[in-house]
Amino acid sequence: MTESTVVPAEPAGPAAPAAVIVLAAGAGTRMKSKTPKILHPIGGRSMIGHALTAAAGLNPGELVAVVRHQRDLVADHILSLSEALGTTPVIADQDEMPGTGRAVQCGLEALTAAATPAPDAGPAAPVDGFGTVVVTYGDVPLLTTELLAELVATHEADGNAVTVLTALLADPTGYGRILREADGTVAGIVEHKDATAEQRAVNEVNSGIYAFDGDMLATALAEVTTDNAQGEMYLTDVLQIARAAGGRVAAVTTTDQWQVEGANDRVQLQALGAEMNRRTLQRHMRAGTSIQDPATTWIDSTVTLEPDTTILPNTHLQGATHLSEDSVVGPDTTLVDTTVGIGATVTRTQATGAVIGDRAAVGPFTYLRPGTVLGEQGKIGAFYETKNAIIGRGSKLSHLGYAGDAEIGEYTNIGCGNITANYDGVNKHRTVIGNHVRTSSNTVFIAPVTVGDGAYTGAGAVVRKDVPAGALALTVAPQRNSEGWVEDRRPGSPAADAAAQARVGHATSNPPQPDAGA
Ligand code: UD1
Ligand code: CA
Repeated sequence: MTESTVVPAEPAGPAAPAAVIVLAAGAGTRMKSKTPKILHPIGGRSMIGHALTAAAGLNPGELVAVVRHQRDLVADHILSLSEALGTTPVIADQDEMPGTGRAVQCGLEALTAAATPAPDAGPAAPVDGFGTVVVTYGDVPLLTTELLAELVATHEADGNAVTVLTALLADPTGYGRILREADGTVAGIVEHKDATAEQRAVNEVNSGIYAFDGDMLATALAEVTTDNAQGEMYLTDVLQIARAAGGRVAAVTTTDQWQVEGANDRVQLQALGAEMNRRTLQRHMRAGTSIQDPATTWIDSTVTLEPDTTILPNTHLQGATHLSEDSVVGPDTTLVDTTVGIGATVTRTQATGAVIGDRAAVGPFTYLRPGTVLGEQGKIGAFYETKNAIIGRGSKLSHLGYAGDAEIGEYTNIGCGNITANYDGVNKHRTVIGNHVRTSSNTVFIAPVTVGDGAYTGAGAVVRKDVPAGALALTVAPQRNSEGWVEDRRPGSPAADAAAQARVGHATSNPPQPDAGA
């Protein structure tokens, strides 16, 4: 080491623009849906949720969403995402004037209003300079923070007035086309409906995603008219206006077309959803998850997986689901908001809001409902349903039953076919079962009821009263056999014949045939 050792500079983080304005005022009629287009789910979030998540990743000074169609529904949804986004978006209302230019103008107005202190809050600070303003759409769900950061970095490094994100498409029909000078300089954008045949032959399209110098943007928008084929205020007109004012206008061209593709109908939404899933699965596989059959595995973008997890075919992981190291999930399993512990196995299971402990086993054919907490090395087996059930370490509910509103201690074995009768027709009640309890087949616990540590129950017990620690609870009447009843009361039946033969000891040499008429 010498004194001249240079400490490497921190790698540049994503550029932080002054604002990102996400346009979300459109009606989205091609979805043919009562639900606003941008509220449709894809990969575990709404479309607008993805757009805002990508935008928030830039850490903008303000995150603005421009709304109009089904305004309240959309605004409420956007505000409900604040916590997950780490910022409260500014809601900007677009008025009746249509067009992307008007939408951005409304967004800027809301920004100015948000930045201006109330009259009684002391001397009003002038809003001097917006800095970089990014514009994106609410219906472009695969756009990443990384691509936006690249756009902003180029925009700022080159001192541009406008930097537009473009893509080369085999079929550019419907998109605005990028017009360039002979030297390649971006001259402007012409909308498909306004374009000449020659302009329509251009296959470089406007993604609708831009970085702007905010002050230039505000000034230029004041000059934008509705003098075009659609009678709208086009945001795209800002490029020519900026250029005429001496600003630099440039493009960043992406080769990843999926990132700029919008969903206008349900066919496009499905295609984007499949591609999003493919990307999510690849990200997890590269980070250490084995996925046997990507074609039948669907993982929401909100799911978290630790390395050395294994996912078997036809598995759906949704919401806030988390898989810990060495866990194996699937096949044929759907987990929603469920946590799976280290080394646990979950087979052919449907679970929502459950916590499965380390090295625990669930399935096959098991239904875990919200509030199920299974302890370390616990087991919930075939054809079991649980709800609000806290099950201690090493306890087993192996076969055929229901445990609801229950608390079960450690190392307890619940026999086959046990039921917690938690509902009296009016109210729900709790069943509390202690540690090291052994319950026999078909025990029914009539809640509220408590079973002490180390207690046993007999087969078919209907437990209405508390069972003290260490007691055996029997509720079924002693068995009484009425000898000879069948030969007496069912003479000549196959059962009576079998009984008669058994009595004389020939049952195995000449078994009776089933009654043909039965
Ligand atoms: C726009 C661009 C076009 C580009 C295309 C990319 C303009 C004039 N044209 O065309 O160059 O190739 O996007 O998809 O900008 N929106 C509002 N308020 C409005 C109108 C639209 O918020 O008044 C929102 C929509 O909800 C949508 C986005 O802006 O998210 C784009 O609107 P859309 O009508 O689809 O624009 P295009 O005509 O396709
Ligand atoms: Ca569009």
